[in-house]
Amino acid sequence: MIQVARPLLGKAELDSVDRVLKTGWLGMGDKVFQFETKLKEMFKRKHAICVNTGTTALHLALDAIGLKKGDEVIVPSFTFVATVQPIVMCGGIPRFCDIRTEDLNMDVRHAGKLISKKTKAIIPVHYGGAPCNMSEILKLAKKHRLRVIEDAAHAFGSRYNGRLIGSFGDITCFSFDPIKTITCGEGGAILLDDRGLSETVTKKRMLGIDKDTWSRYKHKRSWFYEVHMKGYRYHMGNMNAAIGIAQLAKFKKFAKKRKQIAKFYDDKLSNLGAVRIIKRNYSSITPFNYTILAEERDRLMEFLNGKGIITAINYIPNHLQPFFKRNKASLPNTESVYEKILSIPLHAALRLRDAEFVAETIKDFYRKKI
Ligand SMILES: Cc1ncc(COP(=O)(O)O)c(C=O)c1O
Repeated sequence: MIQVARPLLGKAELDSVDRVLKTGWLGMGDKVFQFETKLKEMFKRKHAICVNTGTTALHLALDAIGLKKGDEVIVPSFTFVATVQPIVMCGGIPRFCDIRTEDLNMDVRHAGKLISKKTKAIIPVHYGGAPCNMSEILKLAKKHRLRVIEDAAHAFGSRYNGRLIGSFGDITCFSFDPIKTITCGEGGAILLDDRGLSETVTKKRMLGIDKDTWSRYKHKRSWFYEVHMKGYRYHMGNMNAAIGIAQLAKFKKFAKKRKQIAKFYDDKLSNLGAVRIIKRNYSSITPFNYTILAEERDRLMEFLNGKGIITAINYIPNHLQPFFKRNKASLPNTESVYEKILSIPLHAALRLRDAEFVAETIKDFYRKKI
């Protein structure tokens, strides 16, 4: 079977986890802080706070900006449900915006039309690793005094106007789940410059416990801590950070491979009438997935599956989900893209000859009109 996505792990990850196991310190500790330092250096950000998933990174970010019951957040419908549930977890209301068919990213003009007195934030999602139009989004947010929380789960290593996604803007959330460009097993991170917000996020990830009071008293009363706010048990553990550190060292290699495969698919599939490829500039984009818009998508998916090629639909629009039906929206681009979208295998462990087999099998399907 050729997987649509999977991690590439090796001896470095095994050794790194082995060392943690031997210390016996499995919770949050030195490995997490080392990983945070590396992320801060890479993204030239003042603060990097590691958590246990990308979903909890988004939840903490929304909670820390004070999102509360009845507040609205503008978010594309065309994203994984993990972008949307954190809004609901805070009591907020997702206002779904449409996408542009060129890059499948947020249509900023439509986002602007959704702003109301209740709007508190915008969550742009850099779909597939392609950056959203951040200058327009930040301009819109500034005009209406909104927070911008980037869902950069797909965009680790992608650049916007020459700058790494995560190195600028308001708040950026990454995911390091098993199929992301780099993985921690499970994990996430919040990158930001605002000191006050960073302190709030840091407390909230550990049940609202104030680490500063703990360190102030640790020599006198090592058991002492103070709780200042509502919090969650969302911190990253040392084993996950150890995997992340080993993966980060391989990031350039992973990015190169992902770009190579994406360019290869571009070459092979661009002249196929029944398939539309999404053009991306791989000198600045590290692709998370490779999506095509395919005629007879469902039958193609079945055909590929029969040949041992696993594909995926990323994503079922959230406004069509039963749970979000009350957040009514009419999103023509999202709905037309959903009819045809298909993610074909792309990951750092994929061999070029497997990618060739994938492309040839797609061509076969249309040649034979099966
Ligand atoms: C766009 C998007 N946002 C958020 C997430 C959540 O990340 P995690 O799986 O680490 O919770 C994902 C994960 O698949 C994602 O694809």
